[in-house]
Amino acid sequence: MDEKADAIIVRGLVKRYGALNALDHVDLTVPMGECFGSLGPNGAGKTTLIRILTGLIHPTEGEARVAGHDVAKNAGAVRRAIGVVSQAMTTDLDLTGWENLDIYGKYYGVPDRDRRGRMQELLDRVGLLERAHDLVATYSGGMRRRLEIARGLIHRPMILFLDEPTIGLDPQSRRVVWDLLRQFRKNEHLTIFLTTHYMDEADLLCDRIAIIDAGKILVMDSPENLKKKIPGSDILEIFVEGEREGLPASLESLPSVHKVMVEEGVLRVFADQGAQAIPILMEAIQKQGLKVRSISLKQQTLEDVFIHYTGRSIRTEDTKKVSYFVGAGVPRRWGR
Ligand SMILES: Nc1ncnc2c1ncn2[C@@H]1O[C@H](COP(=O)(O)OP(=O)(O)OP(=O)(O)O)[C@@H](O)[C@H]1O
Ligand SMILES: [Mg+2]
Repeated sequence: MDEKADAIIVRGLVKRYGALNALDHVDLTVPMGECFGSLGPNGAGKTTLIRILTGLIHPTEGEARVAGHDVAKNAGAVRRAIGVVSQAMTTDLDLTGWENLDIYGKYYGVPDRDRRGRMQELLDRVGLLERAHDLVATYSGGMRRRLEIARGLIHRPMILFLDEPTIGLDPQSRRVVWDLLRQFRKNEHLTIFLTTHYMDEADLLCDRIAIIDAGKILVMDSPENLKKKIPGSDILEIFVEGEREGLPASLESLPSVHKVMVEEGVLRVFADQGAQAIPILMEAIQKQGLKVRSISLKQQTLEDVFIHYTGRSIRTEDTKKVSYFVGAGVPRRWGR
């Protein structure tokens, strides 16, 4: 494959589980050298997509080519060309870091004379050389993740797949993983395909992002373009005391306002020149006999892009799930 070739080509990919469309006609192309992210909430289909691209499961319809090979017809060639870091941690706790890498190196057929040097180099790069001969059971989550990244690269793959690379890690460990991925990308001329539900991760690492929800790609572009594309460069978050049906629609008709959304009782107003829109919005709200409790102005982030396309935020979904499981009460909207 030459430098300019496409690393990943996906056409009309569908994966059905019974009546559920885990992937629903997905198309995408990732050129060599790119860091591409698929961003979406729980159940969006991110892991399903990675499993198909790495040859673990077969699609119901459509085709995928990875490193020039059809994943369904030539899974062996695909596997040799790729490294995989899966969503769940899979290093063996009963072995040392060194042994974990060694087994993988042997599995991939890295010759004895190269393997030792490669393992040393990788362990050094992920900051685990000193802990290499300790059992993985004694590693922290961040150390384990770093070891898994090293393991994924043992056979010098040209594409590295990572499913939620920093899920469950503390903020500092997440930053370490991000730095590592950026360094490896540069030094190893890697193409990276990752999935994440973290906006900051996608924004920081990816050249291009596909926002995926319910098995469909809703939009795909660079983080900058995604932010630019949604109407209204400023967002005003307004907390209004009381409720009035039709308020969002009436605000939407004001000049310079592009769109109004209501989420968790907060009005999100997408406007140009947000600062100038504040008094106009305040007046319009007060005219309806309502009181503005607070108003804040911010620039659009990837989070806002996500809300724009899906109508909800990724974070609330997480929070709802957590609050449900810890028994903190069913949110009122679920109808108590
Ligand atoms: N083996 C399976 N059998 C039945 N349904 C499945 C199977 N694997 C995945 N699904 C369903 O397919 C949908 C997509 O799942 P997937 O794991 O790809 O989501 P995800 O985006 O990775 O989510 P998360 O952020 O929770 O990891 C979900 O509704 C899931 O329940
Ligand atoms: Mg997943």
